Amino acid sequence: MSRSVTSAQVVNIGDLRRLAQRRLPRVAFDYIDGGADGEVTLRENCRVFDDVALRPRSAVVTKGAKLATSVLGTDVAFPVLLAPVGSCRLFWPRGEAVAARAAGAAGTIYTLSTLSGTPLEEVKAASSGPCWYQLYLCGGRDVALSGIARAKAAGFGALVVTIDTPVAGLRERDVRNGSKELVSGRPLSMLPFVGQFLARPRWLFDFLADGGLMSFPNVVLPEGPMPYVDIGAVLAQSATEWADLRWIREAWNGPIVIKGVHTADDARRAVDAGASAVVVSNHGGRQLDGVAPTLRVLPEVVAAVVGRVEVLLDGGIRRGGDVVKALCLGARAVLVGRAYAYGLGAGGGAGVTKALEILRADLERTLRLLGCPSVAELDASYVDIPPHWRRGA
Ligand SMILES: Cc1cc2nc3c(=O)[nH]c(=O)nc-3n(C[C@H](O)[C@H](O)[C@H](O)COP(=O)(O)O)c2cc1C
Repeated sequence: MSRSVTSAQVVNIGDLRRLAQRRLPRVAFDYIDGGADGEVTLRENCRVFDDVALRPRSAVVTKGAKLATSVLGTDVAFPVLLAPVGSCRLFWPRGEAVAARAAGAAGTIYTLSTLSGTPLEEVKAASSGPCWYQLYLCGGRDVALSGIARAKAAGFGALVVTIDTPVAGLRERDVRNGSKELVSGRPLSMLPFVGQFLARPRWLFDFLADGGLMSFPNVVLPEGPMPYVDIGAVLAQSATEWADLRWIREAWNGPIVIKGVHTADDARRAVDAGASAVVVSNHGGRQLDGVAPTLRVLPEVVAAVVGRVEVLLDGGIRRGGDVVKALCLGARAVLVGRAYAYGLGAGGGAGVTKALEILRADLERTLRLLGCPSVAELDASYVDIPPHWRRGA
């Protein structure tokens, strides 16, 4: 296969994944690609889409299906948003700004993670489109409040509060690749793991030219931006609780999206806590392994919120057909993490653009093959779900 993301040979997200694997050192590729523990939920997030069959209406001609929709009142060209993905500068120089620019150009929303290497103001300025800010409470309440104030001043349109990270999941690949040792600053501990960088000279050149290991400029501690330390320990000290939603809501005073909802009970709780939308998400199988795949949980959550808030879904989206299935089961839109992160790692902004274009074109073709004129008209009549999914939904 060609090494270029713009090659006609690159036809699906799996192709971008392979290109990312070629360009990135193992520790960076596996950080994107891997999941927690046995990676059961990671695999199931993708596989579960195969359990749902499409029911087309044949001999219906739709001249160009309508993909545009709105999410929380914001217009998007198609119902695929970019999920928060931390540490994107490990994949490409100024990775967050580059991805935000590509999202804006494609007409969709970029979500910036708290744990990013690029200042949030720079990321917002890079995009011609809407951006959301994802919040972790790293450094405690005062540090979070100053991040919220900056995000508000910079013009981020919604605050995404991630609630599924009371501690970091055990991503075994990261442990084996030396992710802790490599940020330890101790040369002797780092030594066994640096060979993987030398095997990727193009990446190494870009990484060093971008300033090497970044700090976190959106988490400003009393002593300055949080250094790139062991993130697991930081997350364990900064878990979000329902009670925090009150001060977060007061400080933000705008739409709040609660990300990491797995059950009907938590969906109702999120509504009561003032959310405008929930994301059915298991963090892409990176946190609690063994939880149900998100598509499986979606009907339960949609039924629980009874239209009071918008329901979004992420996890396992690799094709436009996956987007269609999620929308048929009640999602307003989906978010993608790895699908664009592979593109970013494979070829920067051009790779993100390619990932979004693959999903957009897939989505349009799938709608036309289904005989459905617009994403707004997708509903349960276009899918067959396994009978046991209906029980309890
Ligand atoms: C490399 C990587 C880093 C991530 N970092 C964050 C993060 O900082 N905050 C967050 O809420 N979710 C984070 N996520 C989870 C994504 O927002 C999203 O839930 C997940 O990627 C969706 O699954 P998918 O990758 O199969 O699309 C990350 C995911 C990946 C792959």
